[in-house]
Amino acid sequence: MRRPILAANWKMNMDSAALGAFLSRFVPLVADAAAVEIVIAPPFTLLDRLREQIAGTAILSAAQNVNPEESGAFTGEIAAGMLADMGCSYAIVGHSERRALFGESDAFVARKAAALLRHQICPIVCVGETLEQRDAGRALEVVAAQIEQSLAEVPGDQAEAIVVAYEPVWAIGTGRTATPAIAQEVHAHIRGRLRARFGDAANRIRIQYGGSVKPETVYDLMAQPDIDGALVGGASLDPEAFARIACFQEQRNP
Ligand code: 13P
Repeated sequence: MRRPILAANWKMNMDSAALGAFLSRFVPLVADAAAVEIVIAPPFTLLDRLREQIAGTAILSAAQNVNPEESGAFTGEIAAGMLADMGCSYAIVGHSERRALFGESDAFVARKAAALLRHQICPIVCVGETLEQRDAGRALEVVAAQIEQSLAEVPGDQAEAIVVAYEPVWAIGTGRTATPAIAQEVHAHIRGRLRARFGDAANRIRIQYGGSVKPETVYDLMAQPDIDGALVGGASLDPEAFARIACFQEQRNP
């Protein structure tokens, strides 16, 4: 009922030559993966080229960030309308790297999500606790507060357009994936919060897991009832690895 969504977050990696090499390998490998939605979020500089090169495939593009203003004197920033003009279907907002390195607050993330929705772009809203917060027993509480505040400006009738990504900070780029049970516990909690906010629409909102997802770990994560996709950093830079993640049903360990 919820179509799995497997997304690559390339972060500040890749150039035009690497994009071409990636796609020429990746596209044939996922040609039969019609049951899932495959999304690639390259740096802004590659969005136009990506759009050209995925034309005719089922792959969708995403931005890694957006500014909530419509236009104006915001040097260096990119508006949601500009992303729509680049053919973006999705945009990541509230990634923990942006929260930690660039001081982005939940309120700012909420404005970004609303700006995207005004331009028919689906926000992928990231939440997740730090190791310190988890060790203090506060993971569920922290994530619930992020959900409430980061989604504060999502109109009720657009709830199904959003995707939530649970990315525990301690699992990002560390090789330490959350166990399926740990991830499921938080995903179920997130769905509960979404239900409190949006009612039955919560059953149709997809919740991705992110944090050191690999071909070897994706199957067991995706087998959890409330895990509807993955947001993949490091492993998504390798076309074979990301193709295996997109074809997660085939990765079942014997
Ligand atoms: P890694 O897969 O490299 O841990 O990154 C996860 C992430 O931050 C995706 O947004």
